[in-house]
Amino acid sequence: MGSSLTNSIFPGVFCSTILLSFATTLLAAVSSLESEAVALLESGWWSSYSNNISQRCKWHGISCNNAGTITKINPSALIPVGDRFGKLNFSSFPSLVLLDLSDRKLGGNIPPQIGDLSALKYLDLSSCKLSGELPPSLGKLTQLEFLDISYNYNINGSIPSQLGNLENLVSLNLSVNSLSGSIPLEIGNLKNLVVLHLYDNKIVGPMPSTLYQLTNLSDLYLDNNQIEGSIPQNIENLKNLRFLSITNNSFTGLLPLSLCRLTKLEELFLDENEISGSIPSEIGKLNNLKSLFFRANNLSGPIPYSIGNLSKLKYLFFDSNLLEGPISKEIGNLEALKLLNLSQNKLSGSIPVQLGNCKNLSRLDVSYNNLSGIVPLYIAKLTNNSLITYKGHSDCYFINDKAFDGNKDLSRYTCPPEPKSGRTPYYIRIALPIVIASVFLILGCLLLSPFKAKKNQVSPLTTKNGDLCCSIWNYDGKIAYEDIIAATEDFDIRYCIGTGGYGSVYKAQLPCGKIVALKKLHHLEAEDPGFDKSFRNEVKILSEIRHRNIVKLHGYCLHRRCMFLIYEYIERGSLFWVLSNDEEAVELNWIKRVEIIKSVAHALSYLHHDCTPPIVHRDISSSNILLNSSLEAFVADFGTARMLHLDSSNLTVLAGTYGYIAPEVAYTMVVTEKCDVYSFGILALEILMGKHPGDLLSSPSSLQNTKLIDVLDKRLPPPTSQLVAQNIVQAATLALACLNPQPKSRPMMEEVSKEFVSSQKSLGIPLRMITLSQLVNHEMHIGGKKETCHV
Ligand SMILES: *[C@@H]1O[C@H](CO)[C@@H](O)[C@H](O)[C@H]1NC(C)=O
Ligand SMILES: *[C@@H]1O[C@H](CO)[C@@H](O)[C@H](O)[C@H]1NC(C)=O
Ligand SMILES: *[C@@H]1O[C@H](CO)[C@@H](O)[C@H](O)[C@H]1NC(C)=O
Ligand SMILES: *[C@@H]1O[C@H](CO)[C@@H](O)[C@H](O)[C@H]1NC(C)=O
Ligand SMILES: *[C@@H]1O[C@H](CO)[C@@H](O)[C@H](O)[C@H]1NC(C)=O
Ligand SMILES: *[C@@H]1O[C@H](CO)[C@@H](O)[C@H](O)[C@H]1NC(C)=O
Ligand SMILES: *[C@@H]1O[C@H](CO)[C@@H](O)[C@H](O)[C@H]1NC(C)=O
Ligand SMILES: *[C@@H]1O[C@H](CO)[C@@H](O)[C@H](O)[C@H]1NC(C)=O
Ligand SMILES: *[C@@H]1O[C@H](CO)[C@@H](O)[C@H](O)[C@H]1NC(C)=O
Ligand SMILES: *[C@@H]1O[C@H](CO)[C@@H](O)[C@H](O)[C@H]1NC(C)=O
Ligand SMILES: *[C@@H]1O[C@H](CO)[C@@H](O)[C@H](O)[C@H]1NC(C)=O
Ligand SMILES: *[C@@H]1O[C@H](CO)[C@@H](O)[C@H](O)[C@H]1NC(C)=O
Repeated sequence: MGSSLTNSIFPGVFCSTILLSFATTLLAAVSSLESEAVALLESGWWSSYSNNISQRCKWHGISCNNAGTITKINPSALIPVGDRFGKLNFSSFPSLVLLDLSDRKLGGNIPPQIGDLSALKYLDLSSCKLSGELPPSLGKLTQLEFLDISYNYNINGSIPSQLGNLENLVSLNLSVNSLSGSIPLEIGNLKNLVVLHLYDNKIVGPMPSTLYQLTNLSDLYLDNNQIEGSIPQNIENLKNLRFLSITNNSFTGLLPLSLCRLTKLEELFLDENEISGSIPSEIGKLNNLKSLFFRANNLSGPIPYSIGNLSKLKYLFFDSNLLEGPISKEIGNLEALKLLNLSQNKLSGSIPVQLGNCKNLSRLDVSYNNLSGIVPLYIAKLTNNSLITYKGHSDCYFINDKAFDGNKDLSRYTCPPEPKSGRTPYYIRIALPIVIASVFLILGCLLLSPFKAKKNQVSPLTTKNGDLCCSIWNYDGKIAYEDIIAATEDFDIRYCIGTGGYGSVYKAQLPCGKIVALKKLHHLEAEDPGFDKSFRNEVKILSEIRHRNIVKLHGYCLHRRCMFLIYEYIERGSLFWVLSNDEEAVELNWIKRVEIIKSVAHALSYLHHDCTPPIVHRDISSSNILLNSSLEAFVADFGTARMLHLDSSNLTVLAGTYGYIAPEVAYTMVVTEKCDVYSFGILALEILMGKHPGDLLSSPSSLQNTKLIDVLDKRLPPPTSQLVAQNIVQAATLALACLNPQPKSRPMMEEVSKEFVSSQKSLGIPLRMITLSQLVNHEMHIGGKKETCHV
């Protein structure tokens, strides 16, 4: 029985023991939960929640675990925390993991009891208008991973060394406060620290050496303090560093080479310190850099070439230092570059053309340096910025003064003003001193002879750059030598559109979109004094003349091994080419052909009679007449042109194109305007016949009996309009007059030109009846008036 009793009692005792301990546990839990609830009530934060504490886990900003214990307090602005922060009984929340009171106007000090939140991992007291010192009890929060007490402005005193106990801390943000003193050595214990923000405080002293033990550190922001000393070599220990910012401190000394081993760096801000010495070339190893700010330091020496390695770089600020030497052209490798400020250094040389590769560059400031040369044209393409402004001129831009200020030898790419603008055009204001300087350069470069065009004088803008003597002028402003090299990829064959007498012609699109033709002397020829002379000759002549039917010279570059002329690009190429292509020749109808003849006559008349002394082209041929897209004619190629000096013999070497040279030149070697008149006659006939008139002219007897209609270009239908027929007859008559073997009997170009603009004379006989001999004898007009060119 006893055993049965025992058997019956024992389980009873056993059960009650279990029940008791269960109840104790339960009671303890209830009391803990209750004390949490009481603490919440006492805080008064949730006073509007009818104090139904059984519902507290559902209160706004409260989270509990499964046991009903509060783990997170994260009240939004709906909860009026007010100044009751100090009233919270922190020891009532042993399981609280997160306390986020950011942006709540707590005011006052941080209560030291905050150290009782022993389970806390996340504490955010940023922007809480807290003041006073940081309580050392924060060091008890050993579970903390995230601590943010930033933007309280008035938290003062020094950083408590006890923070070094927070060995689990990953992110520490104490920025924008009034913390003073130095960074405690114990910071080195925060082995897991990834983010350290201490910017905008009053921290002094050197960086503690222990800081460089934080090998997990990725973001280090110490800006706007008074931290001093140098950046030590062992900064290289921070091998995970991605953002380093120490702007506006008192760092001195050199940039340690070891800094360049932090290859994960994406942003490096060292502005406003007194760091001296040069920028190590190893900087090129930081190939993840997006921002590189060395502004306002004492850095000297050159910008290292290796900068070109930083292919991700968007922002490069080296302004206000003592950097010297050229702007390394490797900056042009930085295709992602958006902003570049090199202002206020001692940089010299020119702005590298390679900068044009930086397609995203929207701001460039190179003011206050010692730069020279021309601001490359592509800079005009920079948009979306305040520094490089542009005004709405078709394809050209003005450049704001500021970006290039303080470089006394730097001239700008300039453009014409709006035609309607009344005030002094910008380009005149800056061009004037350059023009004055250029007078001397032109003299030096070209040994200008006493020559003057009667009208349309141009003012060449010139710069001298080493042994390069480049001058580019006219309506469209200035172009840098480097622009030309870039536009043709250093005269790549792909851009070559023709090869002529002494050079090849290249088509090039300048950065501002304008297309130009470049006539470049072959290398060998460039070294030949004779070619050199003809090149200079062409420059000299074309720089002085301006006529709507003479190809415009935009400029030239003279260099020992590279000489080229920059012309307006004339789309359709040479008349010779158009005439020799059946399709194009048909497009060149009778009206257009007569217009071409007239245009050439006007251009030659200008050269012979408007220029003093007269200019003889000496090489008028269909190859040297260019046609634009509207098939208008332009006289080109002045390589052999000559100015006629009345006091000299005008003796010459034979020049010109076979088949166009006046017969007398071959034996007298005397050059007069009449040589061009003869060549014009050949050209005019060629245009009407669609081929060189050589065969026709070789047998004067056949000339007599030949009908005009039979020699006209067969690819075109005969003219049907009477007016067109009259024009053809007039052109042919003048052409034949110009072919008179006796130079004296040829008309002057001025007479030919005037004849073309005089009133038309009706034909006395139908076109199909007119013979060439009738043209020679002027028998086809009503009244038979003699042509004035029969002198
Ligand atoms: C508290 O909330 C619960 C659930 O909504 C409800 O059943 C209970 O009556 C409330 N108690 C008080 C005192 O309002
Ligand atoms: C705070 O809470 C703890 C634990 O719940 C309790 O022991 C203590 O008395 C409370 N302090 C105050 C001032 O209420
Ligand atoms: C911190 O600021 C308080 C005023 O908010 C001031 O009384 C105290 O002296 C300051 N402490 C230090 C160390 O500057
Ligand atoms: C403080 O720094 C941390 C880590 O970078 C960041 O998450 C937090 O937003 C910062 N606090 C403020 C107010 O900016
Ligand atoms: C650093 O970070 C890594 C990866 O996040 C982590 O495994 C490690 O524990 C951290 N702490 C130290 C001291 O390396
Ligand atoms: C530089 O830091 C000092 C504090 O050291 C601060 O007073 C000053 O405003 C800062 N300068 C800038 C430009 O932020
Ligand atoms: C530039 O980058 C290349 C490859 O990315 C590297 O081999 C070279 O050392 C770098 N040069 C410098 C000067 O850092
Ligand atoms: C840095 O340059 C400034 C101004 O040029 C000068 O006053 C200062 O002494 C220099 N500091 C160092 C450390 O060279
Ligand atoms: C230039 O900027 C555009 C638009 O911001 C971007 O898509 C492109 O990748 C950039 N180019 C380079 C080379 O970074
Ligand atoms: C470039 O730096 C200079 C000098 O530090 C400064 O005055 C200028 O505003 C800066 N320009 C740009 C575009 O940031
Ligand atoms: C400017 O550069 C020229 C050479 O390009 C040099 O002779 C001159 O001394 C420099 N001026 C200054 C103020 O550095
Ligand atoms: C320039 O700005 C305009 C409008 O402000 C924008 O549409 C355009 O994409 C920008 N271009 C670049 C290259 O940033």
